[in-house]
Amino acid sequence: MTQETALEILKMGQNVFLTGPAGSGKTFVLNRYIEYLKQQGLEVAVTASTGIAATHMNGQTIHAWSGIGIRESLTWQEAKELAADGELHARYRRTKVLIIDEISMLDADRLDAVEQVCRATKDPFLPFGGLQVVLCGDFFQLPPVSKGKQHVRFAFEGAAWQAMHLKVCYLEEQYRHEDDRLKRLLNAIRSGMVNDETYAILEERVRALQSETVSSGDVAKLYTHNADVDILNDLRLHRIEGQAYAYTMKAWGKRKLVETLKKNCLAPERLVLKVGAQVMFVKNNFENGYVNGTLGHVIGFEEKTKLPVVKTFSGREVSVTATEWQLIDREEVAASIEQLPLRLAWAVTVHKSQGMSLDAAEIDLRKSFEYGMGYVALSRVRRLSGLYIRGFNAQALQVHPTVRARDQGLREESHQVRVEFSTLPEDKRQRQQVAFAGPIQKGNRYSTRKDTETNHSAIKKLRKKRSHAYRTWSDDEDKKLKREYGIGKTNAVLALMFLRTEGAIRARLKKLGLKE
Ligand SMILES: Nc1ncnc2c1ncn2[C@@H]1O[C@H](COP(=O)(O)OP(=O)(O)OP(=O)(O)O)[C@@H](O)[C@H]1O
Ligand SMILES: [Mg+2]
Repeated sequence: MTQETALEILKMGQNVFLTGPAGSGKTFVLNRYIEYLKQQGLEVAVTASTGIAATHMNGQTIHAWSGIGIRESLTWQEAKELAADGELHARYRRTKVLIIDEISMLDADRLDAVEQVCRATKDPFLPFGGLQVVLCGDFFQLPPVSKGKQHVRFAFEGAAWQAMHLKVCYLEEQYRHEDDRLKRLLNAIRSGMVNDETYAILEERVRALQSETVSSGDVAKLYTHNADVDILNDLRLHRIEGQAYAYTMKAWGKRKLVETLKKNCLAPERLVLKVGAQVMFVKNNFENGYVNGTLGHVIGFEEKTKLPVVKTFSGREVSVTATEWQLIDREEVAASIEQLPLRLAWAVTVHKSQGMSLDAAEIDLRKSFEYGMGYVALSRVRRLSGLYIRGFNAQALQVHPTVRARDQGLREESHQVRVEFSTLPEDKRQRQQVAFAGPIQKGNRYSTRKDTETNHSAIKKLRKKRSHAYRTWSDDEDKKLKREYGIGKTNAVLALMFLRTEGAIRARLKKLGLKE
């Protein structure tokens, strides 16, 4: 499917699984859709499974947005307790669309937990409380982090996924990888057809690292393990001349709970910084202009407090102050830690690199331990000449057998969705898009002037007969529609009651999951 078709389908308000190989432009399409929704005045929750992935859309982690935080799952009772939080409740009520990128790294329990809170805050009878849900990612890439658990389920193995009736949009074009040999290498790994050429290319890139003088300052380093990332970062810090400043984490509360907090917080217990250090923020602070995953350099230290000043890659200067991570139990703070929300970032793990596009990278796959690890790491670069490999093991070239088995089915579903879309008359599609997001707003560059004019005059005419035609449905109207439909009112009667067309009633009933 092309990006254009996927975008049109998204605009119709459908629940979508947007997938495709690394570099096919999934996140690019999400960004276009987010821009469209904002111009239409619709509230959209922009999230991803990791902080860095979320920064590609100026979003935040799904954990932070949803309020589930470090919880791994939720009972219905717990979801209702969360929903009672005033601020969180208001956030969910405002939201019309929920986007989650890099869904392959979010496990089924967490997705189900988010779904429960959506239902607890919005409509308990609809999947995700009736939000439009857009799940985006590629299951050939990394699976959820297991943290010692025996069997971690993919998001598609959970109840929430099944309930949503997702339309699959499988993007087929390639936008990141520019040379054919790199494309062939990645396709071979993806399709489980690793061959002599695959090994020849990999070995060539191992030799390139040994023979070329790679300017190690500029090339991103990717490692499979956190410990190796830490070693490289410490080494790089050590090489910088200048005074070092150390910041030690403070902690309060029961030892076990403090340990849990420390394990889940990405800031180190002892952070050492110097001017020139490359750092990453590990917490969201929208007011101060950074989020979890924002990268930058230390450019100085405040004279009095000795706290660091960081210039982000986007050019913003931030005076960094300590922040708190808390564990709340029965509305009381049971444990808390305090540290600067920073860590060194010359090197990152392959997990954190998922979603990035890099001009060049030095990749160490000698200790790969997860399906998809090699595919993710190698697919970050745009061309082979920017790829330097320290080494690789057999696991690096493996992809998950379940994922490979599902792939053909997904492509077929996507084909079906494309056929349905292409046979849908233009005016019907437009009407459904307008029914979901309202008439195209002036200045929305995703609609031509002609579209806008046609829409406006058609809607004006229709509204003479049905004054609510194309208005966004309010929550109260939805409730009333469900009630009236439930007691057997026909579409014709409902159309008169709601001052809309019968087609609009049919579309809404379908959207609410009340009709096929
Ligand atoms: N239609 C397009 N026009 C121009 N550039 C594009 C287009 N689509 C994608 N790109 C660029 O191609 C690169 C890869 O796109 P993107 O990161 O969205 O891919 P992805 O499918 O999300 O990959 P991943 O699975 O690795 O997250 C980015 O640099 C993006 O800006
Ligand atoms: Mg992406």
